[in-house]
Amino acid sequence: MTDASLIEKARIAALAAYAPYSKFCVGCAVESTDGAVVTGVNVENACYRLGVCAEQSALSAAQLAFGLDNIARIAVAGGRIDAGSLKGESIVTPCGGCRQAILEAAQLSGIDVEILCSNGDGTTHDTHRIADLIPHGFGPANLKDGGY
Ligand code: THU
Repeated sequence: MTDASLIEKARIAALAAYAPYSKFCVGCAVESTDGAVVTGVNVENACYRLGVCAEQSALSAAQLAFGLDNIARIAVAGGRIDAGSLKGESIVTPCGGCRQAILEAAQLSGIDVEILCSNGDGTTHDTHRIADLIPHGFGPANLKDGGY
């Protein structure tokens, strides 16, 4: 799938976000090493701190569909919904918690997962690797010196 197609899946997913508090709708598309794609959206909560990011939603779907250890690429897009489509000038990059969640998948597989960070309009994006978004991270590989 092209970068543009994966980003478009994230933008379309964002239309189903549940974001009544921030009104910032985020969609995420996760592609497997075999080319399968699942999506997720942010789901907010009246108890604000319990909201779930789009990336976390999509990672849950990915675990179910093909396993966290088969993730190759991720696209994220966010903004407001206007006239039935996602709008916004600024590029959205995964928050710190989501970077940590993506690192978990990356260390399981040994794949330096690629992340396409799009603006809401879908007109521009940056491409990063998880190792660059969370340098010197702590993941499952760092637990090897634990007991038991
Ligand atoms: N959000 C995401 O879904 N992913 C991110 O990486 C950044 C933030 C959501 C959380 C909240 O529902 C809204 O965007 C505003 O922070």
